[in-house]
Amino acid sequence: MKKMLHPKLKVLADKIRDKKLRRKVTELLENPTFEINGKKYSSLPLDVSPAGLSHHHCYPGGYIEHVVSTANLALAMCNSVEKVYHGKVNRDLVIAGVLLHDIFKPATYIVNKNGSYSSTRLADYMDHLSLVISELVRKGFPLELVHIVSAHHGDYGPIGPHTVEALICHLADLMDSRLNGKVLSAAAYLTRKAVGEELQGLTSKEAFEIVHSKAVEGWEGVVKTVEKIKRKRKMHKT
Ligand SMILES: [Fe+2]
Ligand SMILES: [Fe+2]
Repeated sequence: MKKMLHPKLKVLADKIRDKKLRRKVTELLENPTFEINGKKYSSLPLDVSPAGLSHHHCYPGGYIEHVVSTANLALAMCNSVEKVYHGKVNRDLVIAGVLLHDIFKPATYIVNKNGSYSSTRLADYMDHLSLVISELVRKGFPLELVHIVSAHHGDYGPIGPHTVEALICHLADLMDSRLNGKVLSAAAYLTRKAVGEELQGLTSKEAFEIVHSKAVEGWEGVVKTVEKIKRKRKMHKT
């Protein structure tokens, strides 16, 4: 069933100037499903899905945060290419690449009864990169865009970036996953050290708060912030 596109994804999709490309990207974002051998697969809704199981963006809403932040970083790099290096870059392809690069990650996740995530049976057979590449080819997306998506894992993927647009998407993806992942793991470490246990399902906002409190008020600040987060979580439950 066609769903309303998340407003933050719509803002990004609307920046694509090429009408045909904009329509194709929007259609896939609105209906991120695919078929394998006659069986239809759908995803966790994009607006609640994480974008990773453990290393980065591994909390509800992480998928949207990852795409939006990666787009910000990628567009900043487009500015550098044009304004500092006087180079050329196709922003339509960059935006489309960022929007679609992890589109089928949510199809490889399931929510467990306790709210944690694990991978689906499909993920035992295919990774999100192969899933999206095959669907983009099947749906007739431009080869340049297929390349951007194929190359977004850089040296760890099937092909490295061979265009400026693919390089920008790869670097922005890497930068954002590291930024988020490092702060999440630092916050988990600080929490463990300060109060003896970790907070389950730490969000990015909470993690940045914890890391900030250590920088400003030291270990006492971490203890205070963790207690504040616990109180807030309890209030939301009741
Ligand atoms: Fe990916
Ligand atoms: Fe990504």
